Amino acid sequence: MRRKFAAGNWKMNGLAADLAELEKMVAAKPAPSVDTAICGPATLVHRMAALGWPVGGEDCHAVASGAHTGDISAEMLADAGASYVITGHSERRADHGETDADVNAKTRAAWRAGLTAILCIGETEAEYRAGDTLDVLHRQMAGSMPEGCTGENTVLAYEPVWAIGTGLTPTRDEIGAVHNALRDALIERFGTETGLAIRILYGGSVKAANAAEIFGVADVDGALVGGASLKADDFLPIVAALE
Ligand code: G3H
Repeated sequence: MRRKFAAGNWKMNGLAADLAELEKMVAAKPAPSVDTAICGPATLVHRMAALGWPVGGEDCHAVASGAHTGDISAEMLADAGASYVITGHSERRADHGETDADVNAKTRAAWRAGLTAILCIGETEAEYRAGDTLDVLHRQMAGSMPEGCTGENTVLAYEPVWAIGTGLTPTRDEIGAVHNALRDALIERFGTETGLAIRILYGGSVKAANAAEIFGVADVDGALVGGASLKADDFLPIVAALE
């Protein structure tokens, strides 16, 4: 019922020459049973989309236009050919002080522009060590997820901050327990039909070597992949592990 989804996040990486990697991905023609997307830097979104691969932005402003130097609106991303935008990535929360309220507004902006939001939540290492993971995630969900979330307009991404770019991952059991709790929370808040329709991705040091194991965990509907999405040879096996 929920389609598997492999989403990449190039973060602040990607020059015109790197479009060759996306061309390789396009040429590989992943199975149509898996949804894919690469969220890229704003400078490349238009050119990425022109290659025929689903594309997303990495952030958007909450309003459609105006005096916000350096910002990108969801409408601009949609106009450039994007179908998705990441909201609430922990790097935005940490580097730019984005709050749950900001993420909520950006997610609604994504919908306004017709984009699907890939909405990120995740605990820090200190919160994980303190045993506060689920409390943190429930708080972030309550504040960041607007009313009106559906399986079409929102994908939830669970990204433990301590697992991002570190090579560390939670155990299978830990990922399973978190995704199960997130599923229950989605059902409680949005009702059974919608709660079962919203996809939950895992993100944090996903690579070809661990993808199959992570994707074997119940309620993991795919991954949000950072470093391993930069090269076709790294990303395509992750996509294949979802087929
Ligand atoms: O958005 C992607 C995540 O931050 C994961 O990054 O796969 O490099 O750990 P990573």
